[in-house]
Amino acid sequence: MRILITAGGTREYIDPVRFISNASSGRMGYALVRAALRAGHKVTLITAPTGQRPPKGAKVVEVETAAQMFESLKKHFEKCDCLIMAAAVSDYTPTRTAKTKIKKSNKSLVLKLKPTADILKWAGKHKRKKQIVVGFALEDRDLRQNAEIKLKEKNLDMIIANTSAAIGAGKSTVQIKTPDHKWLRFLQATKATVARQIIREVESISG
Ligand code: CTP
Repeated sequence: MRILITAGGTREYIDPVRFISNASSGRMGYALVRAALRAGHKVTLITAPTGQRPPKGAKVVEVETAAQMFESLKKHFEKCDCLIMAAAVSDYTPTRTAKTKIKKSNKSLVLKLKPTADILKWAGKHKRKKQIVVGFALEDRDLRQNAEIKLKEKNLDMIIANTSAAIGAGKSTVQIKTPDHKWLRFLQATKATVARQIIREVESISG
């Protein structure tokens, strides 16, 4: 299969040297790239900045912001058989980015943010028949209920749910659901193990 994977936390710039981001390490996304390559798939990775080494054998596209990730994804989505959206995309971005570095003052500074596009929702809406779209859900309460809402609302073929304890961690408890099957649970599994399992599940859906 041709698998498109996104990874890393996007950066939303306030001025040329400052940005809003999140604690995503990119480890899950990169583990997925390695697992997919090992299973013989063709992989394109769209990655926001991470401390990870670029995996050999995948086509790598580097982006920074949610808007750039969306643009790149729209370019590559049509040619893939499966999208796995492991990136931690910022839900908000500053309404404007200052052209020059903001100088400090004694007054409080108010940042105005606007919502970014939901890339995964766009993919779920525009997918072809047989194209597989996989999303992640990071939930700190009502994990299964909230993840199932995302599965339905974003028209996904699989959702991988975990808690915020997974961010930056080597091991985590992950739960996986497809529309037609019960929840699968992986207790304290490494990201490499979870990645292998996700690729296997994707292969079984694709038939
Ligand atoms: N996602 C996306 N575009 C966004 C935000 C999120 O494509 N602007 C994707 C993520 O890559 C992930 C999934 O949506 O695969 C769910 O992300 P999550 O942060 O758990 O949920 P949200 O949809 O952002 O909802 P909320 O933060 O309110 O839980």
